[in-house]
Amino acid sequence: MYLGLDLGTSGVKALLIDAGQKIIGSGHASLDVSRPHPGWSEQNPTDWIRACETAIAELKASHPKELAAVKGIGLSGHMHGATLLDAGDQVLRPCILWNDTRSHAEAAALDANPRFRQLTGNIVFPGFTAPKLAWVKNNEPSVFAKVAKVLLPKDFLRLWLTGEHISEMSDSAGTSWLDVGKRRWSPELLAATSLDERQMPSLVEGTEKAGALRAELAASWGIASGTPVAGGAGDNAASACGMGTVGAGHAFVSLGTSGVLFAANASYLPNPASAVHTFCHALPNTWHQMGVILSATDSLNWLSEISGKKAGELTAELGDVLKAPSGVSFLPYLSGERTPHNDSAIRGSFTGLAHESGRAVLTQAVLEGVAFAFRDSLEALKTAGTDLTRVTAIGGGSRSRYWLKAIATALQVPVDIPADGDFGAAFGAARLGLIAATGADPLAVCTAPRTDATIEPDAALGGAYADAYQRYRALYPAIKGVTA
Ligand code: XUL
Repeated sequence: MYLGLDLGTSGVKALLIDAGQKIIGSGHASLDVSRPHPGWSEQNPTDWIRACETAIAELKASHPKELAAVKGIGLSGHMHGATLLDAGDQVLRPCILWNDTRSHAEAAALDANPRFRQLTGNIVFPGFTAPKLAWVKNNEPSVFAKVAKVLLPKDFLRLWLTGEHISEMSDSAGTSWLDVGKRRWSPELLAATSLDERQMPSLVEGTEKAGALRAELAASWGIASGTPVAGGAGDNAASACGMGTVGAGHAFVSLGTSGVLFAANASYLPNPASAVHTFCHALPNTWHQMGVILSATDSLNWLSEISGKKAGELTAELGDVLKAPSGVSFLPYLSGERTPHNDSAIRGSFTGLAHESGRAVLTQAVLEGVAFAFRDSLEALKTAGTDLTRVTAIGGGSRSRYWLKAIATALQVPVDIPADGDFGAAFGAARLGLIAATGADPLAVCTAPRTDATIEPDAALGGAYADAYQRYRALYPAIKGVTA
C-alpha cells in the first residue's frame, strides 16, 4: 500500500493505493483561508497538521489493515506559500498563500532585476515566495530577523512527518530562488532577498526518498516506523504525475480553487514574457509549462456564497446543453490575475447586465469567464512555443459537464474526461511514494488513465464563443483603465 497526502487550499486529502495502483480508500478534512486585509490570503500551518491527522484518522477508521501495510508516502501541496520557521522550527507567522498579492511592489522590484527571469525562467509574480519574504523584511522586520528556515506548505508537513527540512524541484521552482534550468538553489537570488542557502531546505527530485516517518506518528497510525516519504511535488506537478502528463504533447486543464492549463515539456523552455510558468517537473530531468489563473472554482464559489445557492445547484440551473453567450461577461479576477496579465491590482467584473439578467445568466457568465481565462492561457502557451491539441480535465469543477463544454468551445480543442477515479494530486503523490519506496521506473508508473468520454468543441456555437472571447479580451484594458 502507498499513501498520498495532498494539502489543498480547501482541504487535505489522504489517499491509499495498492501496489497495482488501485484506489483503496481516502480520508478528507476541510481547511479555510483567512483574508484579514484586501489581497491577503493566509492559513495557519498548525491547521494543516490537524487536517492531516483528521484525514488519516478517517482512513484508519475505514481501512486499518490497509493503512498498516503502507510502504511509502508521497506529499503534494498548494505551491508558493511562505512558511517561516525560527531556529527551533516554531512557526513565526501565518503562511502567506499562493493567491496572496500583498507583495506586489516587492515582486515588481525583484522582477526589475533581470537575473531573476534569467535564472528562474519566470516572472517574479507577487504570489511566489521570494517577494513574500521581501514583504516580511519590509513590514515585519522582527519576524524576518528570526527566519531560520523557509518551507513550502507540503514541506512543512514533511518536517512534521519526518523531522527533516527537505524540498524537491517542482515546488521549489515556484519560489523565485531556484535556478530552474540547473535544478539547484541560486545563492545569487537568495542574496537578493537577504537570505542564504542555510535558510532553505535541502533538495531532492520528487521521485526520491526525502525522509522517513517518525516513530511517534508511525505508532499512532499503525504504519511501520521509518516508512520512506518521497520528495513529492507541488500540487500541479503532482496532478500531472497522477494524470500521466509527463511527456511532451500531454496536457491537462485543472479546475480547482486556481485554474491551471498544464503542458509537459521534454526540455527546459522558459518564456517569462508570456507570463507562462516554466517549472521543473516532479520527474528527474523533466520540466513543464503552465498558465495559471487565480480564481477558477473560487469564482463559482464566490457566486455561490453571495447567491446562497450551492455551486452544484447553480450549475444545475444551466442544464447540460451549452448556451450561446448571453452578452453578460465576467472577468474572474477576484484576486488579480497571473497569466497573462501579471496584475495583482485588477479585480473582477460583470458587464452587460440587463433587467433580464437573472442568476442563471450570471452563473453562465462566470463559467464562460473562467473558460475564456483558460483561452488566454492557451494563447500564452502558444507564444511560449507549446501548442495544445487536446487536454484532459481534472479538479472539482470538472464535475460540471456544462463547464467542460464551455472550455472545449472556448479553447477549440477536445476535452477528455478520465474514466471514473481520482487521478488528482493525492493520487500523483501516492505514485511518487510508490516510486521512492520501490525504485520503480517513473514513466512506467505515471501512465495516463483511460478516457471515459471526450467533449468536442460545440460546432454550432464556435462563432458566438469566438465573438464573446473578443469582447472578453477587450474588457481587461478597459477595466484596467478605470480601476488601476
Ligand atoms: C500554481 C499556483 C496554484 C496553487 C494552487 O502556480 O499558484 O495552482 O498551486 O494550489
